[in-house]
Amino acid sequence: MLHILFRKTFISNFQRHHRLLQFTTMTTTQKLTPDQLQERIDRLPRMQIAHLPTPLEEMPRLTERLGGPNIWIKREDMTGLAFGGNKARHYEFEMPHVQNEGYDVMINIMDYHSNNARMTAAAANKIGIRYILVLKNSANRKMQGNLLIDKILGAELHLLDEFQSGDAEGYATRLKEQLEADGHRPYLIQDHLFPRIVGMVGFVQAGIELQEQIEENGLKNVHIIGVAGRSLCGLILAAKTMGLDWKFTGVTVTYEVQLDEYIFDHNKDIQELLDLPVTFDKSDMRVLDQYIGEGYGVMTAQVAEAIHIAAQTDAIILDPNYTGTTMAALIDQIEQGGFDNDETVIFLHTGGLPAVFTFAEQLAKFKQ
Ligand SMILES: Cc1ncc(COP(=O)(O)O)c(C=O)c1O
Repeated sequence: MLHILFRKTFISNFQRHHRLLQFTTMTTTQKLTPDQLQERIDRLPRMQIAHLPTPLEEMPRLTERLGGPNIWIKREDMTGLAFGGNKARHYEFEMPHVQNEGYDVMINIMDYHSNNARMTAAAANKIGIRYILVLKNSANRKMQGNLLIDKILGAELHLLDEFQSGDAEGYATRLKEQLEADGHRPYLIQDHLFPRIVGMVGFVQAGIELQEQIEENGLKNVHIIGVAGRSLCGLILAAKTMGLDWKFTGVTVTYEVQLDEYIFDHNKDIQELLDLPVTFDKSDMRVLDQYIGEGYGVMTAQVAEAIHIAAQTDAIILDPNYTGTTMAALIDQIEQGGFDNDETVIFLHTGGLPAVFTFAEQLAKFKQ
């Protein structure tokens, strides 16, 4: 199996960190046709989870309000799987991998309001595998938002306090070792490379889908904005592989994750996994890192405002951590001339809806 071979040959580099603030346009040379790219993806084991294709829609009222380029939205919040989001695509590849390798319990380490935690719980139920969730900073939290859905989905919750959260990895590793001693085969997600890469694969698939939708709608000068992460890199890779001239802006949402370690250092891994003639690099993504505010999980007033604007123009609900921050960046950048008026901006809505309820108090108090 290609993905097993891939794991054996993988060499990661988790040390370096830089950030690219420069923007360049990618080559337009045709490398693979959409069918050829699809054939590469189809070599991987896969199960059907997401509701696809997700819609590509216009945001006419936001476009009018901002008075800049035409804005469209790719609705990855509509994938299904317990309130939807980008991970529905990831798990189409991840769950067969976990199953095929004979694991019988998954362990995940996440934050109390994590979308990943929730969607992994949902995907685990789809294949009937036990799921242990180690949640940082979650002790004594209100059972609300993603945390509530985790509980309803039956995740085995380990709610860590602030002190324990400092060594959540150690906590999860001890759980894993105990399970091994009891004869289980646990899959501690953070120990593996595959989840990191597969997040991109799901969005190479999304890139093929998006290319068809862009063609159907006759859209030109496409510029995609989304969270600077695996999903956006998957789209970049699809575009480069198919020789498309889309541009990309990635918005960072945390100071804790270094983009090199998270995505750019893995450009060769995914190229190898999918056997592609090209890969992405830093020059393919303009990175905006000035919209984080105090830090991950702390909603800024600008983000609260962006959430209200998207809802009150085109009835799009965004989340306070990821897509709200991306919308705040888009609104600000259009005001500052960061996008050309002849571009078609596509906003990548990666989901996160239950987090709105985690931030209910702040959002309820927010005055426009
Ligand atoms: C709503 C949302 N958007 C974007 C991301 C970033 O994910 P990725 O790096 O897989 O694109 C996450 C991560 O959990 C998320 O929850």
